[in-house]
Amino acid sequence: MRKPILLRKGIYWVGAVDWNLRSFHGYSTPRGSTYNAYLVVDDKITLIDTVKEPFADEMLERISAVIDPSRIDILISNHVEMDHSGAIGRIADLNPDVEIYSSVAGARGLAAHFDSSGWNLKTVKSGDSLNLGGKNLTFYQTPMVHWPDNMVEYMPEEKILFSNDSFGQHFANSLVVDRGYPRDIVLDEAKKYYGNIVLPYSPQVRKELEAVSGLPIGMIAPSHGVVWEKYLQEIIGRYEDWSAGCTVGKAVIVYDTMWGSTEKMAKALVSLFSEEDLEVRLFRLEDSHVSDVMTDVVDADFVCVGSPTLNNRMTAGTAGFLEYLTGLAPKGRKALSFGSYGWGGQSIPLIAKALAEAGFEVLDEKKINYRPSPGQLEEWLEEVRKKIR
Ligand code: FEO
Repeated sequence: MRKPILLRKGIYWVGAVDWNLRSFHGYSTPRGSTYNAYLVVDDKITLIDTVKEPFADEMLERISAVIDPSRIDILISNHVEMDHSGAIGRIADLNPDVEIYSSVAGARGLAAHFDSSGWNLKTVKSGDSLNLGGKNLTFYQTPMVHWPDNMVEYMPEEKILFSNDSFGQHFANSLVVDRGYPRDIVLDEAKKYYGNIVLPYSPQVRKELEAVSGLPIGMIAPSHGVVWEKYLQEIIGRYEDWSAGCTVGKAVIVYDTMWGSTEKMAKALVSLFSEEDLEVRLFRLEDSHVSDVMTDVVDADFVCVGSPTLNNRMTAGTAGFLEYLTGLAPKGRKALSFGSYGWGGQSIPLIAKALAEAGFEVLDEKKINYRPSPGQLEEWLEEVRKKIR
């Protein structure tokens, strides 16, 4: 029998583990994920979020190890996205009187996604509190982190922030609390999650951090991945840095190549940035996943994108990457466009245009006809050196 995990007296993780998830809306998830739900056993028995619908039985099995799920009085829906709301109907079927709390936008979203006509929906706003008996929950709306409906809640008695998608990671695990895992692995997965889901909403994350900044937090319980306790200060510090757009002295070089000429240019940039004492990350798009590139873009100063010219355009892989990058909208970064061409050379200005439209300051665009000679590369690097300093 799958067991709940006790986090604090009367507070259990009762979620589900999706060991085999390998893609979340195109974001590669080689370590799978979890859908976290939390059960609070108090005078009012409360469930915070649910799980993706196919995992409802797993959640109910865990809840049943503590109490009869039909005894749940309150269900809090922090976020309408179906990886968290997918099993609300199962709880409502067991107890039609269960009070389902969400934000106003959340109630609208639940009504749009589900047949919620028989549900006992109630709405809360920032600052509202719910007394469960011995414990309380105070709500904070966090719109656009990362849907309009998101909210989080704080339990002062246990100093727990139930943060929904914020602070999450796609990281399947069996121990639930962070102390069971190497710090760098869970922080890296949190960074990948930030770069691929949260990044466009960094201003809203700043507001969330401000809203909870005065609260003594001893645990953050997100809706994916591990619960933060041991590495709490580290993850809060990372969220401060990532949401502020802090960079670490790093260049990300992304390219496609047909016969190795654009690759020569990409590798020349590696030497240049290394000589300038910057950390460098190089990705050949054919062999890399765009979501891994984005993990490194989170704190990069420079993003350099190269493609040969193919059929008067850039390669499809480069275009796909630029489309993904534009949606995730990193702010305040500098960029370079480069590539080799046989005739035409349209890919290089097209890349520069896409980067500028994505909000980058494009420092340089360089096209080299056919194979770059050592002299051409040296001359180009000298130009770039002046521009990046
Ligand atoms: Fe994990 Fe936005 O759902």
